[in-house]
Amino acid sequence: MSQIELTGVTAAGGRRRLAWRSAVLASCLVTAAVVAGRARPQAAMQEPTAALSAQRLARGEYLVRIAACNDCHTPWTMGEAGPAPDMTRMLSGHPAALTMPPPPSLLLPWIASASATNTAWASALGVAFASNLTPHATGLGGWTPQQFVAAMRTGRHRGIGRQILPPMPVAALRRMTDEDLVSIFTYLRSVPAIDNAVPEAIVASGSAAPAPPFDPSSLRSPAQPGADPVARGRYLVEVIGCGDCHTPNRLGDKGLEPDPTRVLAGYPASEKVPAARPPEGPWVMHLTATQAASGPWGISFAANLTPDEATGLGAWTAAQFIDSLRQGRHQGRGRTLLPPMPWPAFAQMTDADLTAVFAYLRTLPKVRNKVPDPVVAAPAGP
Ligand code: HEC
Ligand code: HEC
Repeated sequence: MSQIELTGVTAAGGRRRLAWRSAVLASCLVTAAVVAGRARPQAAMQEPTAALSAQRLARGEYLVRIAACNDCHTPWTMGEAGPAPDMTRMLSGHPAALTMPPPPSLLLPWIASASATNTAWASALGVAFASNLTPHATGLGGWTPQQFVAAMRTGRHRGIGRQILPPMPVAALRRMTDEDLVSIFTYLRSVPAIDNAVPEAIVASGSAAPAPPFDPSSLRSPAQPGADPVARGRYLVEVIGCGDCHTPNRLGDKGLEPDPTRVLAGYPASEKVPAARPPEGPWVMHLTATQAASGPWGISFAANLTPDEATGLGAWTAAQFIDSLRQGRHQGRGRTLLPPMPWPAFAQMTDADLTAVFAYLRTLPKVRNKVPDPVVAAPAGP
C-alpha cells in the first residue's frame, strides 16, 4: 500500500514524507491490530491438525456434558431410576411426533412452563422447541462452524435469522471463547445423526427485540489448567449460566432482568412462598421469575450460592461442595437435591473445575437471604 509510494523519498521532501510515513505506519499497525482482533474467530476455524481436532473433540464433549446441553436438547423419559434424558435420542431435540397442546395460560407468579420431555418451553415470548443438535440434515447438518459461533454470539438463528428464544442460555454461552465454541461444534459433528424435524418455534409478536451487542474481545482467556482458579471458576459459572437459575429476576426498564443486587443469591426470602401449580397435561413444570419451580416433586427454590455464613455457602468446605454436586445431596450427605438443579451434568466436572467454581463463588458479595425450604409434594395416590 502507501509504503510503496514512499520509496522515492527526495532530499527536499524527505523530512515531511518521513513524518507522513511514520503516521502511515502507525495507522497500518493499528489496522493490523484491529484486523488481527477481528481475524481471531477465523483463526480458530482454520483447517485443524489431527492433534487439534482430537483435542477439540474431547474438550467439546466435556463442555456439552457439563453445560447440560442434554438437559434440554435430549428428550426426558421415565427411566428405571426416575425421569432422565433418553440417551438413545441424544441431542436430537424435541420429538417431532410429540404434538404439544396449547401452553397453559399465564397465572402469576408462574411465567413459564416446560414439557415433561424438557424440550418444549412456553412463556410470553412464545413457544420454543429444543433444536436437533445432531449432524443430521434436520439438525446442524448444513451448518458451518462460523454459523454456530455467530448464533451463540448474536442470539439469532445461524447468526442472522430470528431471535433464539429462551430458555436457550445464549447470554451464558456467548461468553465462551471461540476455541471452546468451535470445540463444542466439533463434538456435535461427531455424535450419531438422528432424523428428527423439530417443529418451528411460535414466536410471540413484539418479542423480536435485537439482542444487545456483544464484544467477544471482552472475554477472559479460557480456563487453562493451572490458570488462576478464581478466574477459571468465574468462566465456568458464567458460561454454564448458574445465574440463569440462581439469580432472581426483577422488573427493569426493558422488562425482566437478573437483579444485580442479588447475584446468585437464590429465591428471595422477601417473596412469599407461592401455591404449587399442578401439571397441565404434558406441561409439567412451571417457573417464576424469582426462581421457584413447581413440578411433580412439589416446589423447589434456587439456593443462595453467595458466601454468606448463615444463609449461603459461607460455612461449606470445598469438599462438601464437590460432594453436593457429585451426589446431588445437600453438602453431599443431606437431603436429595430437587429438579431443575442439573447436578448430574455438573457431577461430570473434574475436581479441579469444581474446586475452581467453589473458589469463585467464595469471592461473590455476600447476600443474606434465607431461601425457603422446598415444598415436597404428597406422594401420588395408591
Ligand atoms: C435450558 C434449556 C437449554 C439448554 C441448557 C441448552 N439449550 Fe440450546 N436451545 C434450547 C431451546 C428451547 C432452543 C430453541 C430456541 C428457539 O427455537 O428459539 C435451543 C436452540 C439451540 C440451537 C439452535 C440455534 C439456532 O440458531 O437455531 C443451538 C445450536 C443450541 N441450542 C445449542 C446448545 C448447546 C451447544 C447447549 C449446551 C452448551 C445448549 N444449547 C443448551 C434450550 C436449551
Ligand atoms: C436449571 C436451573 C439451575 C441451574 C442452571 C443451576 N442450578 Fe443449582 N439449584 C437449582 C435449584 C432449583 C436448587 C435447589 C434444589 C433443592 O432445594 O433441592 C439448586 C441447588 C443448588 C445447590 C445446593 C445448595 C444446598 O443448600 O444444598 C448448589 C450447591 C448449586 N445449586 C450450585 C449450582 C451451580 C454451581 C450451578 C452452575 C454450575 C448451578 N447450581 C446451576 C437450580 C439450578
